[in-house]
Amino acid sequence: MTPSDPDAPGASAPDASGTGTGTGADRRISRKSLLRAAVAAGAAVPLLATGTAALARDAETQGRSLKPTPFCDDGDDPTPPQMEGPYFKPNSPLRTDLVAPGAPGTRLTVSGHVFGRNCVPLAGVLLDFWQADHAGAYDMAGYTFRGHQFTDSSGAFTLRTIVPGLYPGRTRHIHVKAQAPGRPVLTTQLYFPGEPRNSTDALFDPELLMNVRSAGGGREGTFDFVLDVDGRPTDPPTDPPTDPPSGSWAPGRAYAAGDRVTHGGAAYRCLQAHTSMAGWEPPLVPALWRRE
Ligand SMILES: [Fe+2]
Repeated sequence: MTPSDPDAPGASAPDASGTGTGTGADRRISRKSLLRAAVAAGAAVPLLATGTAALARDAETQGRSLKPTPFCDDGDDPTPPQMEGPYFKPNSPLRTDLVAPGAPGTRLTVSGHVFGRNCVPLAGVLLDFWQADHAGAYDMAGYTFRGHQFTDSSGAFTLRTIVPGLYPGRTRHIHVKAQAPGRPVLTTQLYFPGEPRNSTDALFDPELLMNVRSAGGGREGTFDFVLDVDGRPTDPPTDPPTDPPSGSWAPGRAYAAGDRVTHGGAAYRCLQAHTSMAGWEPPLVPALWRRE
């Protein structure tokens, strides 16, 4: 390997995150994160599959005909591709756990769903992950921190790995190829929020940020992919319930879209059904709660 080389020397992808005030990027992250955060929170997939398309559409897309591209998240940004980089190797082992016993590094679980058009979860999607080790090195001789798996019947996946180390020229990231049966491969990368290098890596794209939180001495990340794949038609969306207010926000409660709570003296409205948990207080997850 050549650690001094970034994955994409000469890449000209715009850095949408770090050159401005962050407001625009944050807004996009919020919209993009809405669905994946709700899935991670345990919302029932069938309900999500039928309800999210409408709920995830923000106001600017309502009343307009939808583009013939995936619109699972908010109507205008399917999971964007990113270049493969120089460290991909075919024929990775079939496994969901990439961590060898005793391997150094902060444990990381990445979970989520793969959706097609109309927010239909896609089963049997091949996900091939590869990443650097804790020191920022890729294993080009073997298959350390490389592995592929398939989404289950609900379109879900779980990857057990470590937080990848940094190497020169790049911010922290995980590479992945996603392919529905018989369909083109989406090659992309997943990123970590709060990384200083996100603002200087030309490849970084806030649309590819995972939700990441600390848990049990490690990290838990969530990300949902949206592939350009036709899915089964879904039921017509229904309007989310609204009032009455649900009182003070508390962890461990099932909130529905439209629910209203108070937290820290401020009022919030739930944007997506989820089960609350510590670390996802309304001010911290704009994908789930909007201040009113
Ligand atoms: Fe890389």
